[in-house]
Amino acid sequence: MTNVGQSFPEFFATLGLPTVLIFVTVLLLSMWMLSYSNSRVNWPPGPVCFPVVGCLPQLMISGKRRQPTDLLQWYDTYGDIMHIKLGEQHMIMLGTYELIEEAFVKNAATVSARPTWAYFIRRLVGKDGAGVVFKNGHAWKELRRFTLSSLRDFGLGRKSLEEKIQDEARYLVQNIEDENGKAFSPSARIGKAVNNIISIIVFGARHDYNDMPEMLSVLEEYMRIGQGPLSLTNFGRFLIPEKKFVLKDTFYCLVRQEVERHRHSFDPTDIRDFIDLYIKVTQEKLDPEIYTERNVFRIIVDLYLAGTDTTANTLRWSLVHMVNHPDVQKKMQQEIDQVTTHSIN
Ligand code: HEM
Repeated sequence: MTNVGQSFPEFFATLGLPTVLIFVTVLLLSMWMLSYSNSRVNWPPGPVCFPVVGCLPQLMISGKRRQPTDLLQWYDTYGDIMHIKLGEQHMIMLGTYELIEEAFVKNAATVSARPTWAYFIRRLVGKDGAGVVFKNGHAWKELRRFTLSSLRDFGLGRKSLEEKIQDEARYLVQNIEDENGKAFSPSARIGKAVNNIISIIVFGARHDYNDMPEMLSVLEEYMRIGQGPLSLTNFGRFLIPEKKFVLKDTFYCLVRQEVERHRHSFDPTDIRDFIDLYIKVTQEKLDPEIYTERNVFRIIVDLYLAGTDTTANTLRWSLVHMVNHPDVQKKMQQEIDQVTTHSIN
């Protein structure tokens, strides 16, 4: 019997290891059986899911770093529509292009939603979500339309942005030439070049590769919170240090400073970048429920989140592919030469 005032750890210490082990095993087994007997959903086939941790052991505990292609063996065993659990969270995995298209293109209205219930996403954007990547329903549609139309206004798909991208490409090539033929890793500078394009759209400025502003380093760290399979489980609660979430406040504070700087030279007839647009929509009081500081600041993070690593990694992998396949590189050069007026040769 536990004494009044005795803490749980003290109580367990009096029981001895075998009793505690039996207790934990029975508890986990009961939870597992309960989770299956309560489930009225007929889940598709999938690998064994353990109580509490689901399939995380198979996904994470391994001598080598796991790759997305590791899932291919599971698809072979369980089929192209597979059920797994990340922690206590049920997931359906789709294994072919056709199935993904059927779900997310043909049935987009039924299937599209972002998991704003997940602990770490809730901590970042609140339970109703924010911005465009982590938002649902009517507000998401409106903010998405606003994001796309403003990207177009800032030159996406037009000559004006193309020229800025070409300028950045020149800076990148120059930076590589400065190595004078020495061995180097192109990875970081490709990231900085891509970052600069988003930075031009959002803040109206690019930055030297050796002099990236504090805002971009804060943003980079902020974007990396909760990456990996654990991010969709509630384990983030124990694993993500609280100080990481403070990054959001730091970032928002830096953006507010940028907004104030822009206000000094703001001209509603000459919207230079996304920050100017933010000033304009807040002055026009478009829909104060939707165009809040929280939503618009989060769109800035979203543009970096969605537009930098994706583009930079595509470029990095293209380089690796061309190094390994010189014939592909030759074909690409021919195609470039065909569509440019001045051949590089
Ligand atoms: C090679 C480069 C890129 C790849 C592979 C890529 C891929 C993707 C994918 C797979 C999605 C998710 C779609 C969905 O869940 O419905 C997405 C969403 C998004 N992307 Fe990209 N993207 C790239 C570049 C960019 C760039 C350059 C920008 C902006 C400047 C951007 C902005 C967005 C936004 C805002 C979303 C969220 C849309 C929404 O939730 O409605 N992406 N992207």
